[in-house]
Amino acid sequence: MATPILMENPLRQGLFADRVPAPCSLVIYGASGDLTHRKLVPALFDLYEKHLLPASFSLIGISRSKISDEEFKQGLKVALKESEPQLSDSLWNSFSQNFHYMAGGYDDFKTYQALSQMLDQVDQENGTSGNRIFYLSTPPNVFENIISNLGAAGLAKEEKGFARIVIEKPFGHDLESAQELNQKVKEVFKERQIYRIDHYLGKETVQNLLVMRFANSIFEPIWDRRYVDHIQITASEDMGVGSRAGYYESSGILRDMFQNHLFQVMSLVAMEPPVAFEANAIRDEKLKILKSIRPFNENTVYQWAVRGQYGPGYLSGEKVPGYREAEGVNPKSNTPTYAALKIFLDTWRWHGVPFLLRSGKRLPKRTTEVAIQFKQPPNLLFKTNVSDLSPNVMVIRIQPDEGITLKFETKVPGMSMEVRTVNMDFRYGTSFAEGTSEAYERLLLDCMLGDATLFIRGDEVEAAWAALMPVLNHWETTEPERHFPNYEAGTWGPAEADNLLEKPWRKWRRL
Ligand SMILES: NC(=O)c1ccc[n+]([C@@H]2O[C@H](COP(=O)([O-])OP(=O)(O)OC[C@H]3O[C@@H](n4cnc5c(N)ncnc54)[C@H](OP(=O)(O)O)[C@@H]3O)[C@@H](O)[C@H]2O)c1
Repeated sequence: MATPILMENPLRQGLFADRVPAPCSLVIYGASGDLTHRKLVPALFDLYEKHLLPASFSLIGISRSKISDEEFKQGLKVALKESEPQLSDSLWNSFSQNFHYMAGGYDDFKTYQALSQMLDQVDQENGTSGNRIFYLSTPPNVFENIISNLGAAGLAKEEKGFARIVIEKPFGHDLESAQELNQKVKEVFKERQIYRIDHYLGKETVQNLLVMRFANSIFEPIWDRRYVDHIQITASEDMGVGSRAGYYESSGILRDMFQNHLFQVMSLVAMEPPVAFEANAIRDEKLKILKSIRPFNENTVYQWAVRGQYGPGYLSGEKVPGYREAEGVNPKSNTPTYAALKIFLDTWRWHGVPFLLRSGKRLPKRTTEVAIQFKQPPNLLFKTNVSDLSPNVMVIRIQPDEGITLKFETKVPGMSMEVRTVNMDFRYGTSFAEGTSEAYERLLLDCMLGDATLFIRGDEVEAAWAALMPVLNHWETTEPERHFPNYEAGTWGPAEADNLLEKPWRKWRRL
């Protein structure tokens, strides 16, 4: 019998039905902030429109700002209209009917007692069954306070339903503070209740990395040191530091991008096939990769790590100021806004294959991608210089223009044996009618469903910090090798990054 069209297919409906979570309340700490307005509530709205929010759902926003329920909702509505200009009042009213706001200090125990009462009341009135998610969307300096108060108020107990905690990045400032935070949160919540978020893992193409590797049989056999020359992972931004100077001055590019996003993407690219598509099986394999990073030492930190900071320059024809000229930045700041690392994984599969990771601000364009560069063919048959042949590259574009491109050599039509590189392209935008979902939409849904696959386990966070600490310590105690600023805004970073490539056939991709 022919398969009915997609939406009528009972199997397909079953798939969606599985994804509707049980009733629950979502408590957001720091609800007056940017993340709640720009990302979390729009993501909840998308879930609501797809009928993927539970029928009984409540949102309770908490922060210190003294505003009413109505003012809170009005602020969220205005922010949502940015992405949903057609939003009607009736749709907004039905979506937000169970939204509440509570003003209070994060260290004031009375706020937690009042929250406990409010949650009980909401359970009774709205049937949320005692299921609670606490989302920490505040700056990290108040995380520990909130966690211990939640524990003291008995809100981490799972007597009536589930209690889960979502912790935003950054998770710690270094290894020691990450260990302390892990310890604090584990005193109150069990690991299975903890969802450490890295929104990169919610991106469609990052998830597709797993599908591409483990739902196809043609890639895995060549996914190792025998066929791969090196791997480049790039996360570039054209924006400067903007209004985040305060945070950025104490963080810098390694903490902001490498410890979390780039190391997570690298683990997914490099890990062994997990025994199941299940949170702990996948996280076990990612952890092995993070632990296999060859430690940086006093010599290799010079050879394998390059730092940079942008000076004034031009982007899209417009003159832009340097990092040191941004408001809130020390005019003599040595905070790196660019880093490139050469990483070796001491595993059987990846022995000798460099993973070249780079990220920076004020680079020519915003893009995130993984490029697997394969080895040159061993024997040259054609009257071409081997250096004229481009190696095969598989590019996995994470953002924007999500998709995969395979570059390979082909014959130019005609009488001569001219060889040229062509692309075989898969684009999400053209292959699928539905657009890719926002990362927070997927991650909020997974948390409601109790699926921690795309969240980071405590031991992974610590392993990532441990790998990065020698570079961080070295950079924070020594002057840059070349005075900052050492790259112009609108260029691809400091020239020293080329030294990481080592071999003449390796080049940073110009994106
Ligand atoms: N925004 C993003 O796109 C984004 C992306 C990735 C990760 N994150 C992470 O998500 C969390 C929230 O981000 P956000 O951009 O929403 O932050 P935010 O706007 O700076 O802060 C959120 C709320 O926390 C309270 N707050 C601010 N500074 C505080 C302080 N020093 N002590 C106590 N409370 C303070 C404020 O509410 P009250 O004054 O009303 O209490 C503020 O509205 C952060 O950990 C951030 O690193 C954000």
